[in-house]
Amino acid sequence: MRVLVAGDANLDLVLRGDVVPRFGQAEQLLDSADLVLGSSAGICASGLARLGIDVALVARVGADVFGDQTLQLLAANGVETAAILQGDEPTGVSVILSGAEDRAILTLTGAMAGLTAAEVRERLFPGGASEPAARHLHVASYFLLPGLKDGLPALLAEARSRGVTTSLDTNWDPAGAWAGVGDCLPHLDLFLPNAAEAVAIARALGGEPEDAESAARLLAGHGPLVAVKDGAAGGFAVAGDRLVRAPGLTVDVVDTTGAGDSFDAGFLAAWLQGRGPADALRWGTAAGSLSTRGSGGTGGQATRAELEAALVGP
Ligand SMILES: Nc1ncnc2c1ncn2[C@@H]1O[C@H](COP(=O)(O)OP(=O)(O)OP(=O)(O)O)[C@@H](O)[C@H]1O
Ligand SMILES: [Mg+2]
Repeated sequence: MRVLVAGDANLDLVLRGDVVPRFGQAEQLLDSADLVLGSSAGICASGLARLGIDVALVARVGADVFGDQTLQLLAANGVETAAILQGDEPTGVSVILSGAEDRAILTLTGAMAGLTAAEVRERLFPGGASEPAARHLHVASYFLLPGLKDGLPALLAEARSRGVTTSLDTNWDPAGAWAGVGDCLPHLDLFLPNAAEAVAIARALGGEPEDAESAARLLAGHGPLVAVKDGAAGGFAVAGDRLVRAPGLTVDVVDTTGAGDSFDAGFLAAWLQGRGPADALRWGTAAGSLSTRGSGGTGGQATRAELEAALVGP
């Protein structure tokens, strides 16, 4: 295994059509209902596998139909699932009410929230082995994983001291507190927020950033290379005092769910292969854009050949 992804694993139930609920027991008819793989860690791991990277996921799901389906979908995408724990809590699920212009997301975190740093550590160094089982550890959905939070800085520090590189995509904080990330930053090689998250986290660290760029510079000052996702505009990366930008690709967008997680997969695949920040960023933005071609987080994810062809241009 080259990459161990730790974080959330769940399904998305994506509903389209007349999706704005009307209470009073009104029954509304839908155009479609799709049960697909969700979760930042699950989608990122699938993106890495699609790019030909040997990847395993460590996460918690329930011993239930949704848990079994999550494992099946991950395995079908080429992700190693042996490290995924199935416990008593129900598998998390997100119900996505997908309208033409916007969407609402109702999430039960369920089993995923129970994942601990000790469980991740056991997958990275099985039985306390001195040789790590992976050369890179990527953590996703920090704010959905209260059981992981306390032990994460020490785990990241240990991983790096034993030759494993590290990355984190926190995603959004539903609580709006944005606490704890500052303790992780010094132990990260890569930090992968979107523009709004970068600003919120920089503010939580006492900064007063005017925009995402100054937020990223502040975060990079804590150690990691910071790659910021900015929707259709693409993104930028800050390494030390150097800033590089890359546009998104123009694609026929079907569904932007998980574009950020596919960006992470593209960026990581390039970076792990020794490419510099500018190149890795182009891989990230292209992987994010290509992923929007299909429905759900993994439906449109690019293969390595597709990604390379998109980067060369028509
Ligand atoms: N509408 C779009 N058209 C083209 N490319 C897009 C579009 N939306 C996103 N992308 C690509 O995907 C990348 C990541 O998307 P985005 O900025 O939405 O991440 P995010 O906010 O972390 O998303 P999420 O966490 O919901 O998956 C962008 O950098 C861009 O390259
Ligand atoms: Mg994101």
